[in-house]
Order: sequence, then C-alpha cells, then structure tokens
Amino acid sequence: MNIAAVRSDFPILSREVSGKPLVYLDNGATTQKPRAVIDKISHFFEYENSNIHRGVHYLSMDATDQYDRARVRLAKMINAPEEREVLFVRGTTEAINLVTSSYGTRLQQGDEILLTLMEHHANIVPWQLLAEKRGLVIQVAGITEKGELDLDDFAAKLNSRTKVAAFTHVSNALGTINPVKEMTRLAKEQGAMVLVDGAQAVPHLCVDVQDIGCDFYAFSSHKMFGPDGVGVLWGKEKLLSSMPPYQGGGDMIEQVSFEKTTFRGIPERFEAGTPNISGAIGLGAAVDYLNGIGHAEIESYEKELLDYAGAAMGEIEGLTIHGTAEDKVGVISFTLAGIHPHDIGTILDTEGVAIRAGHHCAQPLMDHLKVSGTARASFAFYNTTQEADSLVAAICKVQKMFA
Ligand SMILES: Cc1ncc(COP(=O)(O)O)c(C=O)c1O
Repeated sequence: MNIAAVRSDFPILSREVSGKPLVYLDNGATTQKPRAVIDKISHFFEYENSNIHRGVHYLSMDATDQYDRARVRLAKMINAPEEREVLFVRGTTEAINLVTSSYGTRLQQGDEILLTLMEHHANIVPWQLLAEKRGLVIQVAGITEKGELDLDDFAAKLNSRTKVAAFTHVSNALGTINPVKEMTRLAKEQGAMVLVDGAQAVPHLCVDVQDIGCDFYAFSSHKMFGPDGVGVLWGKEKLLSSMPPYQGGGDMIEQVSFEKTTFRGIPERFEAGTPNISGAIGLGAAVDYLNGIGHAEIESYEKELLDYAGAAMGEIEGLTIHGTAEDKVGVISFTLAGIHPHDIGTILDTEGVAIRAGHHCAQPLMDHLKVSGTARASFAFYNTTQEADSLVAAICKVQKMFA
C-alpha cells in the first residue's frame, strides 16, 4: 500500500491542530472522508440532486439509479445473496432499533436475549426497551482477562428460551474481533435469531454475511469513510419479508386508503419517506474507494500498525492496555496510573493527537474493567508508524506533566 498516496486522498489529514500536524487516531468514533466521497456528494448536489422513486424526469431517474446502484455495491461488499436485503437506515443504531421494533413483535414473555459484556450501548439499550415492553429476559456472556469473549460462557447461556443472540463483530472499546461465525453456529443450534453489530468491523475486515451465517448485520457509513446519517441493515430476505414495517409513510406503501393500507416488499417497506439519498450515494463511493485499495491490503497493513503501536505503548511504564485479544483490530484502549483519561485526551490534543477519552458508550464493560473510562487510540489504514511515534511521545509528555 502506497501510504503517501493514500493519505493524499484524505484532505483533512494535511491540516494542523494546535500548530502541530494532525494525528487523527479517533477512527473508532468516525473516520475521515476521501476526496472521492467528498467529490461524489458535492457533484450530486451541484448537478444531480433530485428525489428518488417519484419523478418521471431525467434527474429523478438518474438519482434513483445511483441510489439503487449504491445498494448493489453494498450487497457485494458484504456478500449478501440479494441486493434487496440491504436496507438503508440512519446508521447502526437505527438498524438495531428497526430489528427490535419490528422483529421484536414476535418475542413473547420469558423469551431470552443473549448479549455480551462488550456491547456498545446501541446493542444494549434497544433490547432493554424491548425487554421491558414484552417481559423478556436479557442474558450477558462474559469476557476473559484479555478482553476476548468467553465462548464457554456464551455457549452455557444459550438454551431453548434464547430467541435472540445479538453481539458485536468487533469491540469498539477493546478492539477484540469476536468469533462471530462460531457464535452464530452455537446460537443457531438453539434456534435463536442472530444479529451482528458490524459497526467496527466493516472499516477493517472483509465481511461475508453468508459465511457468518447470521440473520442481520448492521453498520454505519461514517465509520467506513462514508458520510454520516446513513448506514445499512442487512437481513435475510425471508425474515425481512415476514416482518411488519418499522415506520410508515411515503414510498413504503402499495395502496393507501383510510380503511386499509398495503405495503411494498423489501427494501422499500423499510425505507419510509425520503431517505438520505446523497448519503447512500456517498457511501457507494466509499465502497468503491475501499475496493480500489483492497480489503486484504487494509487488513494486513493495519495489523502491522497495531503491532508496532502496541509494542511501543507496552514499553511505557504505568500504562495499561485494556484488551489484548489475539485477534484484534487497530484499537488501543489504555489508562495511565493516576491520570484521568480526559486529561490524557486534552493534553494529547495540544500535541495535535486526536483520541477519544471516556466510556466509549460501553459502560457495562467499563464497570467490569473497574475503570470510569479509558483513553482510546483507534487506527485506520491512513495512519502511519510515525503517527504511532507521535502518540507515544505525547503520552510521555502527559506523564511528565503529572510527575
Ligand atoms: C460497536 C458499535 N456499535 C454501534 C455503534 C453506533 O453507531 P452509530 O452511532 O453510527 O449508530 C457504534 C458507534 O460507535 C459502535 O462502535
């Protein structure tokens, strides 16, 4: 991978913050956008903007065609059997809420939902809301010292009452890559529906939903170099077609009268109202961009980066890395003895180094780790070993200030 060429694709990476070159290591929160995505979106608004699925005029048909082609690209990216199984939503959070609101109507009092301790709040709270409404029981699979899923505990908590297993593919707070194929197999043995939260997986890994064998897979565009406000829920055709609508409105109906309304098939049934057209088209451009670089190249480069940064940070006295799974992406969550994560984040910022500090929307995991929060450096394929060096130097500066 030609890293200099890759970096020049991302205009923001050449700016300075606090008079220092920006070192952007907050990719777990959101990723930066390549010129190809920025240009696609501004070109759309300058020359192509129109509503979709409505007009008989050229612009509307062209916008519809581009929106539909973005769906095809996304289906290919995750190896979905059918493009109509790809629903455009606002992001991972909405994708999961769609499933809990719609699929959730078939769950009965006493049914169990199995989550894991390393879930983002987006994959906890919607299930809790559903559990309260329908009298469901939430079970939680634990993790090991290294921050890997405790697969034995996961298997032990599955039983004939488990109707849903919902878990993250990659932990946003620890970087752990979960054995989602094996977890799906175990859950399916008990007849449970499986939802995988792929928000932190799609920017880093090749994802194949057919190989995983899950029923739903959710992710956000903004975490994979696309615009914000759009994302994907992939679901198996049979399931989606049997689920009631999530929201009602224009575009999702077949026929409306005051007596009765009938609904269209998928994907339209789940895309009520005017969707984020430019967002979906921009996301399509992000998929093209990633394909141009190559998912395998991204994975192997990021692994090198993680090993380099992990080794350098491991040398810093008083620094604890939370999450040392064998299989992990470029996320390094850490604490420094006696220094609050927010202080770390604030001082690093004065060095131009952007990281996230806090609970990472994973409070149950933080409670388990017995920390109020961590500092988190999260890497993308446009980061460099020199940037890892800048991070280490800035951390040493923090320690000196608190010495
Ligand atoms: C693992 C995981 N799931 C879900 C989400 C929620 O994504 P969004 O805020 O884009 O809906 C995030 C965001 O950080 C995440 O990291």
